[in-house]
Amino acid sequence: MKLPALLALLASLALVGRGQDRPIHSLEEMHRLHQDPKAYRAMLEDPKRDTYQKPHEVINALGLRPGEVIADLGAGSGYFTFRLAHHLGPQGRVYAVDINPDMIRHLQRRLRDLRATNVVPLLAEPDDPLLSPKSIDRFFICDTWHHIQNRPQYLARLKEMLKPDGQVVMIDFKAEPTPVGPPLDLRISREALVKEMAAAGFKLASEHTFLPYQYFLIFNAQSPG
Ligand SMILES: C[S@@+](CC[C@H](N)C(=O)[O-])C[C@H]1O[C@@H](n2cnc3c(N)ncnc32)[C@H](O)[C@@H]1O
Repeated sequence: MKLPALLALLASLALVGRGQDRPIHSLEEMHRLHQDPKAYRAMLEDPKRDTYQKPHEVINALGLRPGEVIADLGAGSGYFTFRLAHHLGPQGRVYAVDINPDMIRHLQRRLRDLRATNVVPLLAEPDDPLLSPKSIDRFFICDTWHHIQNRPQYLARLKEMLKPDGQVVMIDFKAEPTPVGPPLDLRISREALVKEMAAAGFKLASEHTFLPYQYFLIFNAQSPG
């Protein structure tokens, strides 16, 4: 095997073995991970993630209401999607929105295997989740916001898709060194996010502080005037 091919193979093996043990240091490493769906999903579903992601506590803190419609924006492998769907029960619905066709296929396989009747995978556009106006009670956005390009325009779209008393839940990595998470220069600080949301007409309604590496903020859409 030629040296470049050997190096590429070693890099991809390193990614497959990549878990939740350390942060992603560089953009290059992150892009390589995004191009390797199997490794990306393995990282998102690594059982070690539960220790800091605390999915049960997160779901409990949301106080889900029966029949709610949630859009899990940037659903990825479905780490939160299927937990949300389980807690919502058959009356509720979770749109699992992602721009990565491989993630959508994976979500479709998972929902078939789990016989989850209240999960709807949705292949979105990078600048548009493609949901109907006034159809969503809550957007749930975990570790995805820093991937969105034109965020003010995107927030205006989310506002159109929310029901009048709708909320946006944001969980993302603090802009400080943490043992896991994306490169520091990609992170959005809690303060910057609150400002960005306020500029788009979203008011911070509550905050949970039990996640060690991430902030967990809940915003209400303010009605105009
Ligand atoms: C770090 S993963 C987080 C997955 C999931 N929320 C979780 O917590 O396990 C980010 C996901 O966002 C998706 N994504 C990136 N840009 C997006 C966009 N503009 N709209 C929807 N999804 C997007 C990626 O394809 C990826 O699956």
